[in-house]
Amino acid sequence: MAQEDVFKKLVAHCKEYGFVFQSSEIYDGLGAVYDYGQNGVELKNNIKKYWWDSMVLLHENVVGIDSAIFMHPTIWKASGHVDAFNDPLIDNKDSKKRYRADVLIEEQLAKFEDKIEKEIEKASKRFGDSFDEKQFRETNARVLENQQKWDELKARFVKALNDSDLDEVKQIIIDQEIVCPVSGTRNWTDVRQFNLMFSTDMGSTADGALKIYLRPETAQGIFVNYLNVQKTGRMKIPFGIAQIGKAFRNEIVARQFIFRMREFEQMELQFFVRPGSELDWFQKWKQTRMNWHQALGFGKENYRFHEHDKLAHYANAAVDVEYRFPFGFKEVEGIHSRTDFDLTQHQQFSGKKIQYFDPELNESYVPFVVETSIGVDRMFLQIMAASYAEEEIVSEDGKKDIRVVLRIPAPLAPVKLAVLPLMKKDGLAEKAREIIDELKFDFNCQYDEKDSIGKRYRRQDAIGTPFCVTVDHITLEDHTVTIRYRDSMLQDRIAISELKARISGEVTMKKLFAEL
Ligand code: GAP
Repeated sequence: MAQEDVFKKLVAHCKEYGFVFQSSEIYDGLGAVYDYGQNGVELKNNIKKYWWDSMVLLHENVVGIDSAIFMHPTIWKASGHVDAFNDPLIDNKDSKKRYRADVLIEEQLAKFEDKIEKEIEKASKRFGDSFDEKQFRETNARVLENQQKWDELKARFVKALNDSDLDEVKQIIIDQEIVCPVSGTRNWTDVRQFNLMFSTDMGSTADGALKIYLRPETAQGIFVNYLNVQKTGRMKIPFGIAQIGKAFRNEIVARQFIFRMREFEQMELQFFVRPGSELDWFQKWKQTRMNWHQALGFGKENYRFHEHDKLAHYANAAVDVEYRFPFGFKEVEGIHSRTDFDLTQHQQFSGKKIQYFDPELNESYVPFVVETSIGVDRMFLQIMAASYAEEEIVSEDGKKDIRVVLRIPAPLAPVKLAVLPLMKKDGLAEKAREIIDELKFDFNCQYDEKDSIGKRYRRQDAIGTPFCVTVDHITLEDHTVTIRYRDSMLQDRIAISELKARISGEVTMKKLFAEL
């Protein structure tokens, strides 16, 4: 199946099974804003718990906070967001559609990469085991030609970004003959900068109202609380402050479902370190975060690091963790060495001294910061994309069938156990409810009595429930049930009294932490 079709199916599945709904749907929706349904919110909460516990529980020197979304507007002046939190936009005069100029060029680069990958794939099939990819890359004329085009475009693009040269960005789009996907024309406007922050007024009187911003990142709430936490928690450097919360960006191009939203949630860590040690800590956090992703078991080959071409105004090193989505490798998380930029700026703009007295060095300094920043929603999409599978199976009546299954890692699955009475009568329903009453404080259980057992299994597969148990007449006699495993579809007969231990061991977060 084409990857585009996989993605369309995934989006439809998210809606059909109560994971994600378009916001304000009955009013025809609101662009790039989404609501989470009954299963989505459970998965989202589990992702947040996996992140939070891996930061705050597993690191003695990391604590959490929850700062307000509304903050003093000067914070955004100090952080540079008022002046520099921009994306370069370009309009097509014929279709009137707006695009991010940098994204148009990145897509052009991806086209050259695709061409190279296709040549390699073809040759690999042709030569089989004797295929030497390295040699092929170095000698094949078509690969070399596309690689050269890629190198030249990349170098020109990086220079234009670093020089903030918007005319050159437009010239690249023209020279590369990039067309608008809607009108098919190259009738472009100039490239302009567009600030991504939403603003609103706080206060009741027109004169006294204060223009405030909806935070575009949660990080600033951590920076401005650095002193509060360091002092009240008696924290010693190196230490970290973690936060999960909403962020808002007026994205120019909001496509690809929950990949790029206007209201989203971030999980951010600011890790405060001694000046000069930040690049070592940057390397450590890079590895720690990659391990966190790979512990989910979706295949190491589907992740990679991507070095930034243009560093943000606050960073001296930056890397993204990318995952292979159905639409290509894309960023899931950013790791930045933010220097002492933010704390120094807040020190200057607030007039308050923000420093740390290091007893070992017997000196005071503004700490340097390593940040890890991941979008909850993007992580959600990554897990859904990695988990979604369609399998051919033989159904109860011997016919071939397609089973749609979400292979969500059990600790993150919205529902851990479904309890299914074979029929409603003869006391089977009551017995099923008894089992749920016994286990519902340990993990999320769901009761389902409607339709055939086969259909009920399919429904649970479709929401990723790792375990189903069926209650039948034998259950009433010997207190055993049939347990069915989502991934293998194998079944086993076990005592009700064993259920808790069997399931708990698989659905606990400890199972993921053991991989870190
Ligand atoms: N404090 C640093 C920061 O905000 P970022 O690279 O702009 O860095 C970090 O964002 C992460 O937040 C991204 O890797 C992505 O997972 C998520 N993110 C950013 N913009 C988003 C959007 N419009 N919709 C969904 N997630 C977004």
